[in-house]
Amino acid sequence: MSPITPTAVSRMSIVRTVAELRTALAPARRAGVEIGLVPTMGALHDGHLSLIRHAAERCGLVVVSLFVNPAQFNAGSDLERYPRRERDDAALAAAAGADVLFAPSVEEVYPPGFATSVEVIGLTDRLEGAARGSEHFRGVTTVVTKLLCMAMPDVAYFGQKDAQQLLVIRRLVEDLNLPVRIEARPTVREPDGLAMSSRNVLLDTDQRSRALALSEALDSAARLAAGGERSAEALLAAASDTMRASGVVPDYVALVEPDTLEPIDRLSGDALLAIAARIDDVRLIDNAILRPGRAGSASRPSQPLPGETITTCNA
Ligand code: PAJ
Repeated sequence: MSPITPTAVSRMSIVRTVAELRTALAPARRAGVEIGLVPTMGALHDGHLSLIRHAAERCGLVVVSLFVNPAQFNAGSDLERYPRRERDDAALAAAAGADVLFAPSVEEVYPPGFATSVEVIGLTDRLEGAARGSEHFRGVTTVVTKLLCMAMPDVAYFGQKDAQQLLVIRRLVEDLNLPVRIEARPTVREPDGLAMSSRNVLLDTDQRSRALALSEALDSAARLAAGGERSAEALLAAASDTMRASGVVPDYVALVEPDTLEPIDRLSGDALLAIAARIDDVRLIDNAILRPGRAGSASRPSQPLPGETITTCNA
């Protein structure tokens, strides 16, 4: 992580209204500077920071949005417990290369009388949509559409950690002809393999060690696939068994086509293995791309490095 300097923070402007955001971006837009947007809900970790750093390397101006979007939370308690630390986030975003931090209030994003929503049909019925209800993705697609309209970036960056969200946003941007490129970045993990998530800070020591079962489940299925196993049933069983062995009950474990999220029976090309589980009251998700290996190579399983089985899907 880059050192946080007061200079970096003071160079970054913090804006709270759409009008301020547009004023802050106007000179860059007029000058034809490429504007990158990294939408976040804050409690920034290295996953977010990798997106910001990547954007800063490529764009002339980087906007990071920080907005805990109530519309995408189904349980009020999850929304209340969501970690909020704007001061730390501002310092981290600045050090990672953000030029503008857009941190609007709920009223700025959803003023009285707000009555519009954006919904992607089909892709949102599965996995997270099935588990969390249709409001979740409707909340995500509505706020992402708004953030794209507010900042009007040339490019917006999203993480493969939320593989379904990424796919839904690509669909949204294509269907609405939004003039923005969507770029995906790989999942950033803790050294032991746990995918970074803002919710990880809610885990106590015991829960943190059980949470490792998610990435271990992906690794066990990936090893089996690399060894030649093609049956979805066997691969899914390997992932579920790994989780259950650590006392973690999966919410879902699914092997699906990476572009359509249709379930598959046999591994014949790249497939997305998506999992979700609740560690007591903290819900975590993770995913990996499984690739079919040659039968027989299982006798020399190659232990994937944490994150090695994760690649960008549909990027
Ligand atoms: P949030 O969970 O804060 O994530 C913001 C972005 O960071 C998303 O694109 C997410 O996929 C990415 N990200 C999260 N953890 C990551 C990790 N370990 N490695 C790489 N990227 C990671 O996703 C949301 O917020 C919201 O739904 C949002 C798109 C901001 C709309 O409210």
